[in-house]
Amino acid sequence: MTAQRINPSILSADFVNLQAELERIASADLVHVDVMDNHFVPNLTMGPPIVERIQAVSPIPLDVHLMIADADRWAPGYAELGAFSVTFHAEAAADPVALARRIRDIGARAGLALKPGTDPEPYLELLPEFDQLLVMTVEPGFGGQSFMADMMPKLRRVAEAKARLGLDVWLQVDGGITVDTIGIAAEAGADTFVAGSAVYGGVPEERIAQLREAAALHAH
Ligand code: DX5
Ligand code: ZN
Repeated sequence: MTAQRINPSILSADFVNLQAELERIASADLVHVDVMDNHFVPNLTMGPPIVERIQAVSPIPLDVHLMIADADRWAPGYAELGAFSVTFHAEAAADPVALARRIRDIGARAGLALKPGTDPEPYLELLPEFDQLLVMTVEPGFGGQSFMADMMPKLRRVAEAKARLGLDVWLQVDGGITVDTIGIAAEAGADTFVAGSAVYGGVPEERIAQLREAAALHAH
């Protein structure tokens, strides 16, 4: 059975108590950190100085999700500050392969993210250059939106390509993941699940355990 990961998003945490909020998700696999620039997406969150402090105090490794333009300029800095993985959007990099190689050279895992409207086909042949592929299951920008089940054919398509190429790239879903939707995504081939409001909307440790249990029922 494929290993599965639960990555809570601190976008739904209390930003004035980040250290305590990070401690509350210590039983998760990675902490998902949403970086937004009010340009690539219509919302603004945080940048390198805050992510650097999160890296310094987090009990679990950082899964940085860059929803920013000009990823070529900014992504390597997140790898340098110690993030475990750095994911950028396909449209945000002039040369996605060159950027993935820079991220890997620094020592982080490289991730490629696809918005709901992004066709996966041109990127399937690039899969060997990446450690994870993120299929967005909401329009990026905000937490608390509804899961887009119509992204499952795209996820299946990517899972198929991964199997065909014999890769161990992680397949991540982000947006609207709850105990009710996580199984649908796992069934379609996801192994890494981001959840913001579903985790921080209750007792995080309990929510993480419930998400794990629900995902495991549908693991491949
Ligand atoms: C949305 C972010 C997500 C967000 C998910 O643009 O990329 O990571 O935090 O939040 P939920 O789980 O509430 O949909
Ligand atoms: Zn995210």
